[in-house]
Amino acid sequence: MPKPPASFDREKLNDYAKLVFGALGGAMTSTMIFLGDRLGLYRALAGAGPVTSAELARKTGLSERWLREWLYAQGAAGVLAHHENDRFSLSPEGEAVLANENHPAFGAGFFSQLPSLMGVADRLPEAFRTGIGLPYDALGPEGARGVERGLAPWFRALLVPMVLPRVGDVVARLRAGAVAADVGCGAGVALLEMAKAFPSSEFHGYDISKHALARAEENRARAGVSNASFHDAASDPLPGDGRFSFVTTFDCLHDMTDPAGVMRRIRAALAPDGIWLIADIKAHPSYQQNVEKNPMAAMMYGTSVLACMSSALSEPGGLGLGTLGFPEELARKMTREAGFTRFEAVDFEHPINAFYVVRP
Ligand SMILES: C[S@@+](CC[C@H](N)C(=O)[O-])C[C@H]1O[C@@H](n2cnc3c(N)ncnc32)[C@H](O)[C@@H]1O
Repeated sequence: MPKPPASFDREKLNDYAKLVFGALGGAMTSTMIFLGDRLGLYRALAGAGPVTSAELARKTGLSERWLREWLYAQGAAGVLAHHENDRFSLSPEGEAVLANENHPAFGAGFFSQLPSLMGVADRLPEAFRTGIGLPYDALGPEGARGVERGLAPWFRALLVPMVLPRVGDVVARLRAGAVAADVGCGAGVALLEMAKAFPSSEFHGYDISKHALARAEENRARAGVSNASFHDAASDPLPGDGRFSFVTTFDCLHDMTDPAGVMRRIRAALAPDGIWLIADIKAHPSYQQNVEKNPMAAMMYGTSVLACMSSALSEPGGLGLGTLGFPEELARKMTREAGFTRFEAVDFEHPINAFYVVRP
């Protein structure tokens, strides 16, 4: 006998359906943001005041009918403001987050990896069955580019002027001439910012992503620096001879299959008075706390399934920490187990990252 339909509280049912379709609305709005960024529409709207679709079409050379529908979607979502006579505008805050790639709050870059992230979803049912995730490079060149564009504005604006001066005597060491490494360097933006600022020092970036390393080489050539080089950590790993006086890891330990092994390597690579700066996603020890304290928890757990945890489980025996899986308590424990004795948390009021200064 088929089960009779459960009786629902109609109001609760409506609320729940709204929640679910709100998520679908978020996906559509995110896709519209991807298109707006890709087509340069936010840059066209920045400082332009309220415009019609015809005016935006003249300015961008794009089809008026398509722009009108995009403007309606963005207005309905509240990303753009709607004015009389179907004019739309981008607020100054919208300019910072969506149009100005040099603003530390710029976030449109994260949307550029959406098709790559969604593209792997088809392959994940298999991962749920086997337990083995996809390597970082499964996201393709656009995945690496999206991470680069997502994280770069903050590095460019704040790493050298604000963060490094608060990390022991690192600035004095780098000015005098030191050997430094960025492990999990991605497209090398942070490393190149440091290399440009400290020409007397030598900088080495290590990563295992072919797409990120290719992009790092392009960025190096464009920056024209000669004191930075990039290494494929799989074939040319961090040398364990204590030659480095400064090592950084930015947003990557939680993505690694063997973060404990990488920590031991960093310990061996650092000079006895060396300094290791860790930046990783601000996480709390329990799921409950992450959900209560982090308004982006749902987005981050989803990103973890699609990218971070998947990468961290991409080899048998992978630790699989994932996006919100590396809270301060665990960072303290794991660094201690890797042979570090000093651990200091430093607050840079970063919207998503915690920072730790760790020493042998
Ligand atoms: C989220 S990205 C961050 C990249 C870069 N630090 C940035 O801030 O733009 C994580 C990076 O860690 C790299 N990674 C993962 N496992 C690694 C390992 N064992 N050794 C070096 N890099 C690794 C990935 O390839 C990826 O480029």
